[in-house]
Amino acid sequence: MSILKIVKYPDPVLKKKSLPVSKIDRETGRLLDDMLETMYDAPGVGLAAPQVGISQRILVVDVGQLEGEERRPDPKAIINPEIIHREGKIIWEEGCLSLPSLIVPVERSAKIIVKALSREGKEIQILAEELLAVAFQHEIDHLDGILLVDHISRLKRDLYKKKLEKNEFFEEETPPHSSRRAYIG
Ligand code: NI
Repeated sequence: MSILKIVKYPDPVLKKKSLPVSKIDRETGRLLDDMLETMYDAPGVGLAAPQVGISQRILVVDVGQLEGEERRPDPKAIINPEIIHREGKIIWEEGCLSLPSLIVPVERSAKIIVKALSREGKEIQILAEELLAVAFQHEIDHLDGILLVDHISRLKRDLYKKKLEKNEFFEEETPPHSSRRAYIG
């Protein structure tokens, strides 16, 4: 396994719509393993293939799973994901590994069902709530070329670009901070 380079905004690969994977092979498995390792190293709770420069509908997510007091790893590595059910609304303040120093509150569906293929090529369905639901929606956005900067106004986007050039932090105005903030990936 190896750690891949995470592509940063405004690299054009991040704005491309990714293509569905038509053949799952050993290479796909290796990419999934490398993406997981890259995500853990960053660290983030998700990573989409375009973020490592590959325009394919592949993503990894791990928000962990609580077992008593302990949170143990719970990696999900999926191919050709599709949201087939949505319920409710939820807002998290999201950060992205490809957009340094940017935090944006985004309204997402609170509960979703994701249909996808596993690394073995089996069709699976995952019920996701809370941060897991947010992470899946953030990563599926990446597959469609949608970034956190697309969730803010053009004015703020230009401001962010300027701050980025000067290495300054940009924070979208948010309601009083809750604990619902995460660098997704
Ligand atoms: Ni991201």
